Amino acid sequence: MMEMVLFLKWILFVGFVGCHVEGLGVNWGAITTHKLPPPTVVQMLKDNGIHKVKLFDADQSTLSALAGTGIEVMIAIPNDQLAVMNDYKNAKKWVEKNVTRYNFNGGVNITYVAVGNEPFLASYNGTFVNITFPALQNIQNALNEAGLGDKVKATVPLNADVYDSPINNPVPSAGRFRSDIGDAMRQVVQFLNKSNSAFTVNIYPFLSLYYGKGKFPFDYAFPDNVDNPVVDKGILYTNVFDANFDTLVSALKAEGFGDMPILVGEIGWPTDGDKNANFVNAQRYYNGLLPKLAKNKGTPLRPGYIEVYLFALLDEDAKSVAPGNFERHWGIFRYDGQPKFPMDLSGHGLNKLLVPAQNVSYLPQKWCMVNPKAKDLSKLTDNIKFACTNGDCTSLGYGSSCNNLDAKGNASYAFNMYYQMQSQDDSACNFQGMATVSTLNISQGGCNFTIQLVPLSSSSSLKASLVPLVLLVLYMFQF
Ligand SMILES: *[C@@H]1O[C@H](CO)[C@@H](O)[C@H](O)[C@H]1NC(C)=O
Ligand SMILES: *[C@@H]1O[C@H](CO)[C@@H](O)[C@H](O)[C@H]1NC(C)=O
Ligand SMILES: *[C@@H]1O[C@H](CO)[C@@H](O)[C@H](O)[C@H]1NC(C)=O
Ligand SMILES: *[C@@H]1O[C@H](CO)[C@@H](O)[C@H](O)[C@H]1NC(C)=O
Ligand SMILES: *[C@@H]1O[C@H](CO)[C@@H](O)[C@H](O)[C@H]1NC(C)=O
Ligand SMILES: *[C@@H]1O[C@H](CO)[C@@H](O)[C@H](O)[C@H]1NC(C)=O
Ligand SMILES: *[C@@H]1O[C@H](CO)[C@@H](O)[C@H](O)[C@H]1NC(C)=O
Ligand SMILES: *[C@@H]1O[C@H](CO)[C@@H](O)[C@H](O)[C@H]1NC(C)=O
Ligand SMILES: *[C@@H]1O[C@H](CO)[C@@H](O)[C@H](O)[C@H]1NC(C)=O
Repeated sequence: MMEMVLFLKWILFVGFVGCHVEGLGVNWGAITTHKLPPPTVVQMLKDNGIHKVKLFDADQSTLSALAGTGIEVMIAIPNDQLAVMNDYKNAKKWVEKNVTRYNFNGGVNITYVAVGNEPFLASYNGTFVNITFPALQNIQNALNEAGLGDKVKATVPLNADVYDSPINNPVPSAGRFRSDIGDAMRQVVQFLNKSNSAFTVNIYPFLSLYYGKGKFPFDYAFPDNVDNPVVDKGILYTNVFDANFDTLVSALKAEGFGDMPILVGEIGWPTDGDKNANFVNAQRYYNGLLPKLAKNKGTPLRPGYIEVYLFALLDEDAKSVAPGNFERHWGIFRYDGQPKFPMDLSGHGLNKLLVPAQNVSYLPQKWCMVNPKAKDLSKLTDNIKFACTNGDCTSLGYGSSCNNLDAKGNASYAFNMYYQMQSQDDSACNFQGMATVSTLNISQGGCNFTIQLVPLSSSSSLKASLVPLVLLVLYMFQF
């Protein structure tokens, strides 16, 4: 009977997987003021048929929620831990605590450890260049020593700025690794080859458009483009992704590793915070990308399946906006797990919404706004500045969803975001008497004045999520 049930489950499971883009993954980041409970997010992954997830740390409550699901997980070591991992003893401890511990029947299916996150980014001025390779080596060696080396691979997610083509020959076939990090790249690539791992690259056509400022036609950023191809030795490149990916293939080939497996660690399109970041463009981007992935089209130099992790699952309201206001709006879901626009992960281009998060707990229906009775409006400027510095005004800028508000609307928006981020604390809606709490929804047009989530009490959620894990571990040691 049990076997029959399992068999039926297997059929359902395989049938279900079969209709989705093979191996499509998502990035689950958590730089937010208010997190959805990890079990809620894991349910979202299951409901949407997502079987791979990439994390930016090895958070215990997140991993506990993923235990027993079979979802493949890439966990990560943040850049600020790379120096520590240059000591093998620490790498060994990290692997014991964050990988081996979850390696049991019903545990977490960890397949990769990301060592650092874009550590060779040019804007880091070389800070991590000398400490990434030793960390990579130590982590893989610790995995090997723990007997997990065949199953779990260390890799380094790198930004696409680690390679380029010369200005006088800007074609994919001329791709080479950036000369200032040539030695570091060589070490990393040779080691990835030796350990049978994969090269992980983050490719962002949106950023190419944003930073490129007119270097290529707007449509070239989208996978559905057909016009103005770049011609490279008889190959026509019609979009940034293909050209960028093949630039990497060429750079690897030049190092003697032209066949190295490549994972796309991050790819996506933001929906707010810039004139090109909106639902229309994001939907166009994914509508072009997902069917190509589903058909295993690959790129001209690498036809076939490409393993891809979308960036990102959820919006993150506490991310640094140094790269731009769009940074907080990469989610295919809003901060609260609600889908933003129609998107078909099966790659069939169906006009349907993703399955939203269930049972989301919101704070009460209260908003913070400019007090209509306030007299001395001269105090507004400083208070807006405070609210925006400590809150989130990324939707107010040029081309963003709340750019059409008047001066008072702007102030109310800023006040409300700060108030919500402070979990509706009464003292967070004062602003020298300029603000007041409203129970009426003050959203205007396309601009949402949001209500935040009920904060997770970290201790209780951690305790609750640890119980099943502890039980499983006990169970394991009984046999
Ligand atoms: C874990 O992922 C690997 C790689 O896809 C897969 O072969 C394996 O069956 C998965 N294990 C479990 C327990 O789901
Ligand atoms: C395991 O990962 C967590 C979360 O990323 C980190 O805080 C912790 O230091 C790691 N454990 C060890 C022993 O390094
Ligand atoms: C890198 O250097 C630039 C220019 O010298 C500086 O503005 C920036 O803060 C530096 N960044 C880091 C991460 O050190
Ligand atoms: C990295 O190592 C090279 C060669 O030993 C050295 O010249 C460079 O200063 C080091 N960079 C940093 C940031 O420590
Ligand atoms: C490593 O490189 C060698 C030589 O190019 C190649 O034969 C081998 O298949 C590569 N292995 C991996 C895992 O990339
Ligand atoms: C949501 O709440 C309903 C009713 O309380 C419950 O039956 C269901 O299991 C919950 N779903 C999740 C994913 O927590
Ligand atoms: C509202 O704020 C945005 C962003 O700070 C600014 O660009 C815009 O000019 C403001 N609008 C008014 C009417 O003050
Ligand atoms: C507030 O109003 C907006 C626009 O009418 C709507 O989309 C949003 O769901 C409302 N918010 C709440 C919490 O009811
Ligand atoms: C505002 O919220 C509603 C749901 O409450 C959603 O349908 C709409 O897409 C949101 N608009 C923006 C710009 O986020």
